[in-house]
Amino acid sequence: MVKNIKSILITGGAGFIGSHLIRHFVRKYPNYNIYNLDSLTYAGNLENLKDIEEVSNYEFIKADITDETKIIELFRKYQFDKVIHLAAESHVDRSISDPLAFVKTNIIGTINLLNAFTSLWKGNFQDKLFYHVSTDEVYGSLGETGLFKETTAYSPNSPYSASKAGSDHFVRAYGETYGIPYIISNCSNNYGPFQFPEKLIPLMIHNIIQGKELPIYGDGKYTRDWLYVEDHVEAIDLIFHKAAKGETYNIGGLNEWKNIEVINFLCEILDDKLNREKGSSEKLIRFIKDRPGHDRRYAIDSTKIEKELGWKPKHSFQQGLEDTVSWYMQNKEWLENVTSGRYLDYYKKQYL
Ligand code: NAD
Ligand code: DAU
Repeated sequence: MVKNIKSILITGGAGFIGSHLIRHFVRKYPNYNIYNLDSLTYAGNLENLKDIEEVSNYEFIKADITDETKIIELFRKYQFDKVIHLAAESHVDRSISDPLAFVKTNIIGTINLLNAFTSLWKGNFQDKLFYHVSTDEVYGSLGETGLFKETTAYSPNSPYSASKAGSDHFVRAYGETYGIPYIISNCSNNYGPFQFPEKLIPLMIHNIIQGKELPIYGDGKYTRDWLYVEDHVEAIDLIFHKAAKGETYNIGGLNEWKNIEVINFLCEILDDKLNREKGSSEKLIRFIKDRPGHDRRYAIDSTKIEKELGWKPKHSFQQGLEDTVSWYMQNKEWLENVTSGRYLDYYKKQYL
């Protein structure tokens, strides 16, 4: 590690959004020491960060945020000034089959970080920050119209969103009770390279390439507001550097699509790229049993971050999807390693 003034902890940096964020910070801010704390669950993959693992202002720490003692020890050792907290169980379907895992990581894990941060700085919070990265799912579901604003009441419907809502409340409560300087942002659905193929877009890309069925829950008319992951990272960077403490920001692309529309786009793009007959991938679509408690529609009002911090998404959906599909096609080995579980060997080879 180089001798730098700022010591920044990013949790969950081996995951999808975290790895984009780590790469962005390590490259753009050589005068920050960036620590990536991740327990490497099935969703954490250090192959995502191969290109920066030798950079001098970057260090990986394998630790579990549910391990209270270890987290306190690490805060004492590294004296983290600022935290950007992304580590979480993040998949709604998994939360339906194992809610407790989500309570442990998303709520207890967050409280462990808050306690370690609070006790390390003991009220002397000048130039310190706890930035919590959260989701629009805490607001529940919208009807045909309307947008989620920062003032929308929380109304989570899945164990995942309930656990994220719980973590948001604890962050805010630590701000009110112990005076910690915090910021929370709530973002819509991200997509892009390095996303684990259990989420809609990478799952469909993988299945189309493999010629496997494309499972659509319910009537396929559920709507999401899609944002390219790099646009989310730009928003986090701006919020981290410019937002006032105690603020919350919604982040979204004003880019609503029904799931069936997204899948149709992917089928068209891949028919073209794979030189398949037009319309052949669409034949793989299968409507299946709905997800319990399935939120009908998410859509974000990003006016606050646009007006106050000058953020705007840069990627069009068409271009973002094309780039994402190209990335998965060019990185078949990554996809194979992830789907076979072989990526887990990478940590052993690299770090043990
Ligand atoms: P992800 O599942 O791809 O990555 C999560 C990372 O956290 C993994 O690297 C995993 O190993 C790590 N992790 C999980 N449990 C841990 C624990 N107990 N200790 C330490 N590390 C642990 O998730 P993602 O999609 O990159 O999401 C990152 C964050 O952003 C989450 O907090 C999520 O709620 C939020 N978010 C995601 C989206 C989205 O569309 N993906 C949108 C808005 C907000
Ligand atoms: O809104 C932000 C959230 O977006 C994040 O907080 C979550 O971490 C992230 O997983 C995502 O949640 P969703 O439930 O919206 O994403 P998912 O990719 O699981 O599903 C997107 C939509 O596609 C949803 O309506 C369910 C549907 N779907 C999903 C899968 C995996 C299907 O129809 N078939 C599928 O096989």
